[in-house]
Amino acid sequence: MTSDTPQRLTLTRPDDWHLHLRDGAALEAVVADSARQFARAIVMPNLKPPVTTTDAAVAYRDRILAALRQAGGDVTAFDPLMTLYLTDNMPADEIRRAKASGVVKAVKLYPAGATTNSDAGVTDLLGRCAPVLEALQREDMPLLVHGEVTDPSTDVFDREALFIDQVMIPLRRAFPALKVVFEHITTRDGAHYVRDAEGPVAATITPQHLLYNRNALFIGGVRPHWYCLPILKREVHREALVEVATSGNPRFFLGTDSAPHARGLKEHACGCAGCYTALHAMPLYAMAFEKAGRLEALDDFASRFGPEFYGLPRNTGTLVLERVPTVVPDELPFGATTIVPLAAGETLDWRVAAG
Ligand code: NCD
Ligand code: ZN
Repeated sequence: MTSDTPQRLTLTRPDDWHLHLRDGAALEAVVADSARQFARAIVMPNLKPPVTTTDAAVAYRDRILAALRQAGGDVTAFDPLMTLYLTDNMPADEIRRAKASGVVKAVKLYPAGATTNSDAGVTDLLGRCAPVLEALQREDMPLLVHGEVTDPSTDVFDREALFIDQVMIPLRRAFPALKVVFEHITTRDGAHYVRDAEGPVAATITPQHLLYNRNALFIGGVRPHWYCLPILKREVHREALVEVATSGNPRFFLGTDSAPHARGLKEHACGCAGCYTALHAMPLYAMAFEKAGRLEALDDFASRFGPEFYGLPRNTGTLVLERVPTVVPDELPFGATTIVPLAAGETLDWRVAAG
């Protein structure tokens, strides 16, 4: 450590532009972890059943705030930004209601069968969903995209790259003014597409895709807590993600994709996809940026570029990280069961300062 190694990092209070909070006891177990670090979060709608209407999103938001209050969190300091789950049957008028609600900020596209709870997802985007896409473009509301093709015969490591040609490019050609967020990009292909494309396109990047390549899934055996979708990729892809995330390009911003699943459903014959990172998201991102020698780029990635893309004000508060080696807990309470956070048992260089 040199004398100019910072011991404290004061950031503008960040936002999480991609978060799974679940519902019921699971929601109550996790929501305070996000609220401790983030002022706002884009909350994913893949509940069972999915959140497909503005009324359901408003009711879900109330449950989130009630759970945060129940968990002892500060409900005045956390603003859940809601999303609707796009289906083939969503009426275009729903977008007008969503906009008017003031709390629904985006619509999420899950290609049918792409990931956890995506059975109700879209089968015919440019056909049946065209009226909704037109309404989104008109209302200046972003479409958030899970960018993987779903053909089961396609290699799981190629699904994101193929999605660019098969869906992203035709979508953006048909709706050139539509704001699109390519969620949780995991490949050099995704990173370079977003960097170079014309028009209003951006991407979120998770901490695990900045810190790990696919070897992390298999160190000494199968490690289910490193399994998420889109799956970790080769090192060249991780390097490309670090490059764009730390480059100061406003198209790339923070979205943890923290996706809690009970321990028993991860450590299972057919384990669920999703890494739990809400607990320690900012220390994980700080480690990734510091490893790249770009700690100074973290503030814009975490706190500035997201609100700019969404057309929202920047937060005014701060979040302080301090350089205190901190062991990630082996597990955390999760309703009647437990959850294993990403990198459990490992030591992180940073922690969130109290207060
Ligand atoms: C997410 C989940 O569990 O809801 N899982 C994941 O691996 N990221 C779904 C998703 O965002 O794909
Ligand atoms: Zn997700």
